[in-house]
Amino acid sequence: MNDTIEIKVRVNGIDEAARLQANTTLLTFLRESLNLTGAKEGCNEGECGSCMVLLDGKAVNSCLILAAEVDGREIVTIEGIGNAKSLHPLQRSFLKHHAVQCGFCMPGMIITALGLIGEKADPSEGEIKTALAGNLCRCTGYEQIIQSIQAAAKQLRAQEQKASRRTA
Ligand code: FES
Ligand code: FES
Repeated sequence: MNDTIEIKVRVNGIDEAARLQANTTLLTFLRESLNLTGAKEGCNEGECGSCMVLLDGKAVNSCLILAAEVDGREIVTIEGIGNAKSLHPLQRSFLKHHAVQCGFCMPGMIITALGLIGEKADPSEGEIKTALAGNLCRCTGYEQIIQSIQAAAKQLRAQEQKASRRTA
């Protein structure tokens, strides 16, 4: 018997509702039901990090989570943080530091970095390496990726300070 479930979830600021097979993963729901294909299906077993999304602000492997588990919660995918016309500072920084080659791992890397910066505005190199331990890249050295994250974190801190001076 194929059990189905209904979920309501906020994805990239938009309320979505769907009826799904109970065993549908969050990754499959995002890619197949919502056509959000930025999160990639790599290993499908929690090893590569290409499927990362933010779940209530925390970076998670969407291949390991059932869509049923995110009912009532908030998801942000790579599509929700920037686009070609208006890149997020992390995306700009990755480009500037030549951290992108084939690009397959990039949505996952950037989401992981965003989750880290959300918890720690000024992450150390060690903290960045620890956060990226579950994100595999077959193309670039990790050095450029770490530099990109450090530079973007610095820019975001500066933006934050500027905004708080304005409202003070
Ligand atoms: S596809 Fe999810 S960790 Fe590899
Ligand atoms: S840029 Fe190709 S896998 Fe990372």
